[in-house]
Amino acid sequence: MIRELSNPSVCMRDPQKVQEILESMVKAGSNTVQVISDFDMTLTRFAYNGKRCPTCHNILDNSDLISSECKEKLKELLNTYYPIEIDSSRSIEEKLPLMVEWWTKAHELLVQQEIRKDLLAGVVRTSDAMLREGYEVFFNRLRDHSIPLLIFSAGIGDILEEVIRQAEVFHSNVKVFSNYMDFDESGVLKAFKGELIHIYNKREGALLNTGHFQELRTRPNVLLLGDSLGDLTMADGVQDMENILKIGFLNDKVEERKPSYLDSYDIVLVKDETLEVPNAVLRYLTENK
Ligand code: TMP
Ligand code: MG
Repeated sequence: MIRELSNPSVCMRDPQKVQEILESMVKAGSNTVQVISDFDMTLTRFAYNGKRCPTCHNILDNSDLISSECKEKLKELLNTYYPIEIDSSRSIEEKLPLMVEWWTKAHELLVQQEIRKDLLAGVVRTSDAMLREGYEVFFNRLRDHSIPLLIFSAGIGDILEEVIRQAEVFHSNVKVFSNYMDFDESGVLKAFKGELIHIYNKREGALLNTGHFQELRTRPNVLLLGDSLGDLTMADGVQDMENILKIGFLNDKVEERKPSYLDSYDIVLVKDETLEVPNAVLRYLTENK
């Protein structure tokens, strides 16, 4: 049905179910579809030429806005908590308080650095941030078909927005839920705004934003993109959901994590640095009515 679903990176536990969801969504029409996507390591690349690409936090952590002493501490946090994030032998319940600890400690360190708002654009411009191959087609097709895209990220909203703005894909159909920086009147970071979004509380984040989902209530068909099992709850605020197709990028610790990804994502993309499959799904949804 979709040629790209035979790509070597594609794994599906139940291809028949995927086909049924797609057929049902095509029948309903692309004007009933909304897309909800994670950002780091989902819309951005995990690696390029064998080298890891940065998350929103890493973009800032690696910049010259951060002192070398603070860089060391942030690196220590990453080395402690990232292995926990991707550890398939621990349950989400076990990981949750540790993830809160990671985000809280990292944000405390960032706030101590007196980061200036006006320097963020330059930091992003000189960083190694990279959207996945095919991102132009992805963002532009959604804009051309007026399909709303919600980017739901536990990263840093200010950095994320700058990445997509500089890539010239921050179109008017894009909305972002994330952790935003709060600056004082002289433009220096003093805190993070609102409720913290971390990797395992996206459900709570979604439920705090009922207004957004209320506006989109005529779009009960959801395409969800993520790279973590925490991303599966991003659509929990969607009203009267009819169909959901979940596409998961499995970037790291592939063999250990594959069974759980196959259990929870309809389509699992193993070490696939492109948006080829999501783009093929969107092409199918927008060209087949
Ligand atoms: P996402 O929801 O957009 O994927 O963002 C979450 C990612 O951010 C998650 O994979 C861990 C990563 N992260 C860092 O790289 N450094 C940090 O200091 C923190 C708190 C998170
Ligand atoms: Mg992610």
